[in-house]
Amino acid sequence: METLKLEVTEENIRKAGEIIRQGGLVAFPTETVYGLGANALDADAVKSVYEAKGRPSDNPMIVHIADTMQLADIVSEIPDALVPLIQAYWPGPITFILKKTDAVPLTTTGGLDTVGIRMPSNETARALIRASARPIAAPSANRSGLPSPTNYSDVLEDMDGRIDAVLLGENCSVGIESTVLDLTGEVPTILRPGYITKEMLEFTLKSEVRYDPALLMDPTDQEEQKDFHPKAPGMKYKHYSPKADVRIIEGDDAAAAKEMEELKQSLEREKKKVAVLDYSRDSKAAARDFFARLRELDRENVDVILVHALEDEGLGFSVMNRMLKSAGYNVIHV
Ligand code: TXA
Ligand code: MG
Repeated sequence: METLKLEVTEENIRKAGEIIRQGGLVAFPTETVYGLGANALDADAVKSVYEAKGRPSDNPMIVHIADTMQLADIVSEIPDALVPLIQAYWPGPITFILKKTDAVPLTTTGGLDTVGIRMPSNETARALIRASARPIAAPSANRSGLPSPTNYSDVLEDMDGRIDAVLLGENCSVGIESTVLDLTGEVPTILRPGYITKEMLEFTLKSEVRYDPALLMDPTDQEEQKDFHPKAPGMKYKHYSPKADVRIIEGDDAAAAKEMEELKQSLEREKKKVAVLDYSRDSKAAARDFFARLRELDRENVDVILVHALEDEGLGFSVMNRMLKSAGYNVIHV
């Protein structure tokens, strides 16, 4: 199939909206990462998203809306906490897990009776949703297992020839996927950390917000894994893995810099091509850069990527979640 490359114009957004309505697939920018969109209410269209990504079909998708009016058709209960959260953070980089209506096919939710909903702040994304006049189911627009794309060239690297169209929008300003917050239980629970942090959510709700226990575990620890059943099904799959071998170096700045330099030299003596990523603890910059950098270093055939750990709090915790996965939890403490 030939993939249309569409500059962002009114006419092309209309065209892309029409493709979605016809059951086709369109990749589009959001503020977090690029999404691979299909009509969320069309089970066949959603199935073709799984195929294009090479993704297991029990992994539920996030449904994107442009207007809170769209909630009425797809969500069966509005929990009290949702109202202040929408006021504070939508449109924006947070997804709420809510009880779904029958209008949302189980194919979209990976068989669950809940659905993840997000209203992106990116204007192109919202214009596409409006043009399609449908809620749009969209996972990140990467082949399953690879880093999420944060610019359209990275989308094309994975999807050219596999989908109907790509909207050639801007680079993503956040750079990591949305926070996923489950609002179907007693206590709001973060299933995936993102730009909107636990501290921000607690400030808004004036009450406790939890991390899903899976987020605080080391999945390479066999003891911890025995009774582990992740709530966000996406958590159990291999993620963000470049071809290069990623290692995280954790410790104070001077010690980590010294360790990275020594490691680099010893790897280079073994004829390995090595890259060092040090964001000087700037979590925002790290979020924006990390996924795109992994792909770039793969194109340069780098063998080993050494990454200086970020502060494990706030946005740093969210970016570390991605860094740890891309490293297969390979951490060197110094
Ligand atoms: O920023 C984002 O969220 C991007 C852009 C495109 O909006 N989308 C994205 O989608 O990251 P995806 O499919 O790559 O990740 C969706 C995550 C997965 O971890 C999935 O398990 C979780 O959200 N999720 C979705 N629906 C869920 C549900 N009903 N219950 C629990 N987890 C859910
Ligand atoms: Mg993804």
